[in-house]
Amino acid sequence: MIGASVFSREISQIENNEIVAMLEIVFNNAPPQFWTKPASSTMKYHPDSSNVNGGLVVHTKQVFYIAKAILDAKMDLLLTDRDIVLASCLLHDIYKYDFSSSQYTVRNHGIGGVEFINNLKPLREFFASTYKSPPSWYLEILKCVKSHNGKFTKEYTGFFDEAQTIVHLADWIACQRWCYFDLTKLK
Ligand SMILES: [Fe+2]
Repeated sequence: MIGASVFSREISQIENNEIVAMLEIVFNNAPPQFWTKPASSTMKYHPDSSNVNGGLVVHTKQVFYIAKAILDAKMDLLLTDRDIVLASCLLHDIYKYDFSSSQYTVRNHGIGGVEFINNLKPLREFFASTYKSPPSWYLEILKCVKSHNGKFTKEYTGFFDEAQTIVHLADWIACQRWCYFDLTKLK
C-alpha cells in the first residue's frame, strides 16, 4: 500500500486542515522507495523493526509516536505548535531515497526533502489557490525537516528551536538499535 492513507491514523491526529491537505499532497507524490525500503540501507542504524521492507514507514511512525509522547508529557513547551512537530516527523525522511533505483539513502536528505517538497507542483498549486505567500506553518515544517539530523546536519548551523529539537530527538531515539517498535502496541 502506498500513499497518504498509509498514515491515515497519524494524519487524523493533526488538527490544522491545511497541514493535513499538505501532508496528503506530499505523501501522494512521494518517491516510490519511501514505501518499500528499510530505514537504514546499511542496516547499521535503526532497530530491527525499521530494517525490513517498508521499514522507513515503520520508522516514520515511530518518530511520530515518540514526538507525540514528548508533547503529551505537557512540560513547559510553550512555543511548540503540536501540529508542526507531528507533521514534521511524518515528513522528515520523505526524501531518504530519491526517485532513482539506488539502494542507498540520499546524503543530506533533510535538505533534499525540503527541495522535493518545495518543488512539488500540486503543492505549489494548492498554496497559490489559498495563500499570497507560503504560510508560516509551512516554513516551520520545512525548517524542522531540513535540520532533523540535529547537530549532525552539517549544512544547518542555526539555532534549534523547540519544534526542531523535539523532531530531532524523536528521530535520534528512534534510530537507536535497541529501540524496537511494535506497531501492534499502539492504542
Ligand atoms: Fe529518520
